[in-house]
Amino acid sequence: MISRKYDAERLKENFKQHFHATPLLFRSPGRINIIGEHTDYNEGFVLPAAIDRAAYVAISKRNDDNIALVSLAFNETYTCKISEIRPLKSWTDYVLGVVHQLSKRGMAVGGFNLALDGDIIIGAGLSSSAAVECSVLYALNELFGLRLSRIEMVKMAQAAEHEFAGVKCGIMDQFASVFGKADHAVQLDCRSLEYQYVPLYMEGVRIVLFNSNVSHSLASSEYNTRRQQCEQGVAWVNEHVPGVQSLRDVSHDMLQQHVLPKDALIYRRCKYVLEENHRLLAACDDLKKGDIAALGQKMFRTHEGLSREYEVSCSELDWLVQYVRNEEDVLGARMMGGGFGGCSINLVKESAVDALIEKVSAEYRLATGLTLSVYAVQIADGTGKI
Ligand code: GLA
Repeated sequence: MISRKYDAERLKENFKQHFHATPLLFRSPGRINIIGEHTDYNEGFVLPAAIDRAAYVAISKRNDDNIALVSLAFNETYTCKISEIRPLKSWTDYVLGVVHQLSKRGMAVGGFNLALDGDIIIGAGLSSSAAVECSVLYALNELFGLRLSRIEMVKMAQAAEHEFAGVKCGIMDQFASVFGKADHAVQLDCRSLEYQYVPLYMEGVRIVLFNSNVSHSLASSEYNTRRQQCEQGVAWVNEHVPGVQSLRDVSHDMLQQHVLPKDALIYRRCKYVLEENHRLLAACDDLKKGDIAALGQKMFRTHEGLSREYEVSCSELDWLVQYVRNEEDVLGARMMGGGFGGCSINLVKESAVDALIEKVSAEYRLATGLTLSVYAVQIADGTGKI
């Protein structure tokens, strides 16, 4: 099982060697999501938690108006003038995208040096991009005294993802990264942005992630398509029921009357979202009551919905969930995040974790020819200074 502690000193030393200055250090974590998938951009509910893997930023001011970047992970550098930033379809987009958001709002930042690193596996569905955006924004906020609130940073990081990375994501990843709290999940209403912390204490049960190690190129285009399909469903309902703004306002009856006759596929997409919202609220009650078995069963149902109705799974993730389904030591499992690859999240009885990992790893290789990576995550605090 992969578990390691990130060494921020290494980043600091690299920064010093590269820029000959002493930096401030910040971190912003990746996230898991217990349940509530593809609900955030439909103004529904989510239940994410920040994890002990994060993006790390070292930063200092410059005397000119240049932005000088180093990525330790990619072993690359990039320099440009603040006035010249643009999307480049590269790791730089997650840094420059937030600078762009600040400029758009008239918040002047001066030139800066920034070194970026982290231990969130890229492409595993753990929101490394949101973590980078939030860590950079938090760092710039401190460095230039911008006085942004946490929620403002969340919204700006999300806008950066929309405009620079081109993914019309919801707010879950950035919110979880910034507002995460050790040992707690965040129950977030993505419409009102009201949230509550739910203790993520599950006696004798561990959260284990199985990384399928596939990352299909479809992910961002299909993601945006799902969003459009949900919006189309809402628009059709709205023709008959004024005031309906999102799937949050839509009932099963409305879907049946106004969406099903027009398009069975869009109906299925919307129906999944309605059910998932309902399931999430019930799952939060399970968690609060300590009924992990009931929560786990709901996770299995979420997977079925994501696989068959929302169609964002893939054969490898389906295999991983199907395989553990009959294991009595696995209380629940499902694909996690946007889909088309990445990880499954599993609730596993502590005593059985090691044996299960061994078995699943061997069988996964036989079934798919791929190597499974396994992470046992701890739930950590959100964005902050180191
Ligand atoms: C990605 C997006 C999130 C959310 C999930 C699916 O992680 O960035 O906003 O929509 O997919 O739940």
